[in-house]
Amino acid sequence: MTEQPDGTDSVGDPLFADQDPIFARKELLHVGHVPEKNRIVGRDTEIESVADEIGAIVRDDPPNNVMIYGKTGTGKSLVSRHVASRAKNAAQSNGVRCDVVYVDCSEADTETRATRQIATTLKRSTPYEQKVPLRGVGTMEYYQHIWRILDLHFDAVLIILDEIDKLTNSNILMQLSRAKEAGKTESFIGIIGISNKIQYKDSLDERIDSSFGHRELFFHPYDASQLQEIMRNRTDAFQPGVLGAGAIELCAALAAKKHGDARKAIDILKEAGELARRNGDRTITDEHIQQAQKVAEINRIEELTSGGTIHAKLALYSLASLIITGSKESYSTREVYDRYGKMCDLAGYESVTENGLYKQLKEQAFLGVIESTKTGGGRSQGSYLLHRLVTDPKHIVKAVRRDTSLDALPSLEDLQDLTIAHQEQSSQTTFGSNQ
Ligand SMILES: Nc1ncnc2c1ncn2[C@@H]1O[C@H](COP(=O)(O)OP(=O)(O)O)[C@@H](O)[C@H]1O
Ligand SMILES: [Mg+2]
Repeated sequence: MTEQPDGTDSVGDPLFADQDPIFARKELLHVGHVPEKNRIVGRDTEIESVADEIGAIVRDDPPNNVMIYGKTGTGKSLVSRHVASRAKNAAQSNGVRCDVVYVDCSEADTETRATRQIATTLKRSTPYEQKVPLRGVGTMEYYQHIWRILDLHFDAVLIILDEIDKLTNSNILMQLSRAKEAGKTESFIGIIGISNKIQYKDSLDERIDSSFGHRELFFHPYDASQLQEIMRNRTDAFQPGVLGAGAIELCAALAAKKHGDARKAIDILKEAGELARRNGDRTITDEHIQQAQKVAEINRIEELTSGGTIHAKLALYSLASLIITGSKESYSTREVYDRYGKMCDLAGYESVTENGLYKQLKEQAFLGVIESTKTGGGRSQGSYLLHRLVTDPKHIVKAVRRDTSLDALPSLEDLQDLTIAHQEQSSQTTFGSNQ
């Protein structure tokens, strides 16, 4: 772990020593922070499985490709980076020239952006003299640079394609996995693909052919005791005495309850610290943690929906608002669609078709934000889907309304007022006419 350029690691300098009563090394709570080997909890089997697939490069042999699936916060990115960097070191000490390239496909979401990032990252660690243009050239030119840099400077490269489902097409997988066989480069290329969506597997199987030979690994959510250990390994993020007895247990219990998501667990801890600091308190109390859990859940939903379209957010908001203003826990696609139409009007968006909305809901079910169950009568009536939220609808409303293009949607308070008004009138919901 390195010191932050902004000086958050201020332990050594007396000028800043008293500055933060709560945090000592806050960077330990950043999502991108890669803990040391002995601080990675409960993922030994997964680490070994990834190493088994890619490990051949250490001996200058061809690696397997691997796809890792699992919900958010199950350690996929962490384990991939950790194993890849160990493989690189082991390869280098065997005299195998090896590099690792990490691509976050939620940012580099087109083939051009992803290949550009691979080319520029590879160039950075070599004396490659040609310029890799940042704009004005196409995917093919980036591939050319990649092949040339590999041939000149590397025996092998490991490419981590994180959030691979955000890529607009899967051509890059075909190009990279066939490169050696097609005579484009002599170097071995190992790919670690990562997706939060298990269903991406099916769409991948449809889109690529057998030349992308790969193994699949599935990461499972953590249980409360694993989450406790993950957090306990980071307690030196805080000043001594700030975390009272039971604080970690409570954070873990809250995070384990629904998702087993390590990111959320750590986020609760961080938000609780922020709250304590803002209140001028010297210790983190249960109340801070309870409050922080809400903020962390809203952060989590915002992040989950950040890659989706505006209609995904409108769909979620519609379901949440139905649950808040209505008396049921779950609603049919048709009911959500009716509400969604009204919300599109309010927010100034053209609505998609009912089938389009159904796809958005399905997507949210993949991400684990909603749960859809088939129900319904006999053959004559046909079955239909009922959608319910996995999380508190209030958190959905808050998370969606953080998107400034949707602030015309009723706020949580407006919705709650509507509910009261409707209970009084006991009439049909009508949005838009209400103040
Ligand atoms: N087994 C673990 N031990 C320690 N920290 C972990 C572990 N798994 C996840 N984390 C931490 O939790 C956060 C989320 O993990 P990450 O690998 O980004 O999950 P994913 O990629 O599956 O969404 C990161 O801050 C990571 O360092
Ligand atoms: Mg990740």
